[in-house]
Amino acid sequence: MESAFQKNILCIGAGYVGGPTMAMIAYKCPQYRVNVVDINPIRIQEWNSSELPIFEPGLDEIVAEVRGKNLFFTTDIDKGIHDADIIFVSVNTPTKTFGVGAGMAADLQYWEKTARQILRCSESSKIIVEKSTLPVKTALAMERILKSDNSHIHFEVLSNPEFLAEGTAIQDLENPDRVLIGCSQTESGFKAMEQIVEIYANWIPKERILTSNIWSSELSKLVANAFLAQRISSINAISELCEKTEADVKEVARAIGMDTRIGNKFLNASVGFGGSCFQKDILNLVYLCRSYGLNIVADYWESVVSINNHQKERFVLNMLKAMFNTLAGKKICLFGFAFKADTGDTRETPARYVAQKLLEENAELVISDPQALQNAQKDMHGVTGKIHYIKDPYAAAQGCHAIAIITEWDLYRHLDYKKIFSSMNKPAFIFDGRNIVDHNILFDIGFNVYPIGKPALTHF
Ligand code: UDX
Ligand code: ADP
Repeated sequence: MESAFQKNILCIGAGYVGGPTMAMIAYKCPQYRVNVVDINPIRIQEWNSSELPIFEPGLDEIVAEVRGKNLFFTTDIDKGIHDADIIFVSVNTPTKTFGVGAGMAADLQYWEKTARQILRCSESSKIIVEKSTLPVKTALAMERILKSDNSHIHFEVLSNPEFLAEGTAIQDLENPDRVLIGCSQTESGFKAMEQIVEIYANWIPKERILTSNIWSSELSKLVANAFLAQRISSINAISELCEKTEADVKEVARAIGMDTRIGNKFLNASVGFGGSCFQKDILNLVYLCRSYGLNIVADYWESVVSINNHQKERFVLNMLKAMFNTLAGKKICLFGFAFKADTGDTRETPARYVAQKLLEENAELVISDPQALQNAQKDMHGVTGKIHYIKDPYAAAQGCHAIAIITEWDLYRHLDYKKIFSSMNKPAFIFDGRNIVDHNILFDIGFNVYPIGKPALTHF
């Protein structure tokens, strides 16, 4: 049957990257048919329902606009592959938990399975686009698998890493700083690249669509995340010094950020960075450097993760010390469990570490979050200790000895902290892991206030 669509695009993996990215392509390009497939039938069912599997501001509206018109979610991966001209692969690539490279290297088993499935189901030549973050040279492995049966079918493998951040995915997709497309420096590579450029050129100015060789493209994604994470670890390292010296990390960040060479973004000191990308990608980079014998370079990047771990550890130790070195039987409320604001995602969230450590001290926990309570319950499954999950922050804080702000949800900036204070056990403590509340006002209300990167305000 002749299709009415100009191109048939498939995305394998309907996750945080695949779902929103394909929704945007379908929204901006009504002339293409976009199919999204996943091995997880529940995920696909959710994408086809009014309760999407991920919370992302603006996503519901876009999906509602195009789903069933030129955007389709199914579990029929074989047919999807068979019918596609261009296949984006955005399956997960978690850190390996076993064997060589455990805890460091990327686990490429899902990726390899996908490559084999593409080979099995294809009857025509296709462009394969790596969307997930991958170690450099993955495209080579992919090509080897795809060429392994020596058939007449040609697969051209390209790299097109996704730079969207969760919580702002729709904005980032609609108006990206840049789109990067890497290809083999061959005639067929350039031809395939043109086809991918053509997709994005439907809404992105040409000067923001960068092209490079495929290895530069794969590496740039790891390096972008490593640089971003490095800025956070740098300011977090300074936050510890600020707490000792009566400097204020926010003032320091403002002062250095106005230097245009440094810039003012990603300088918010915090309880530590989380998310599915930063730690995984840096460890990947470190593993890659070590595999080439670049141990000093590897150590340098690994320290970004060490500082992040240190920041999470010292946040909990500060709580313990401030609350008279005992948390046993004390009720502590976590404001936020998501790894950042405006998402329900809890992958690698510092909240998981903080919760675990507080429970080890025999504290009782109340976890509050406007979007992430379901994921929080999954993450805490099997962890021993008393845990309550309460969405409403006022109800969550009631009767608690302390509040720890873990996620920078806007909601927590504007609460009636007088009301909260009056419902809490005294002395009441607040540990602001995001520096989002007015510390002086909270101190005046009666709280003992522990910000990140400036001295505590206490009543004793
Ligand atoms: C990141 C990259 O930004 C994105 O380009 C890439 O595609 C995927 O990884 P994401 O993990 O979704 O995106 O969120 P991001 O906004 O980068 O935040 C990561 C973590 O750093 C969060 O835990 C956030 O709270 C924390 N953070 C961010 C800080 O602690 N301080 C800051 O100044 C900025
Ligand atoms: P990301 O944040 O990179 O998008 P996610 O874990 O949210 O990662 O999404 C990856 C998706 O890929 C998951 O929904 C998972 O079920 C899917 N997936 C993993 N392996 C395969 C496979 N072989 N075929 C199809 N989908 C897969």
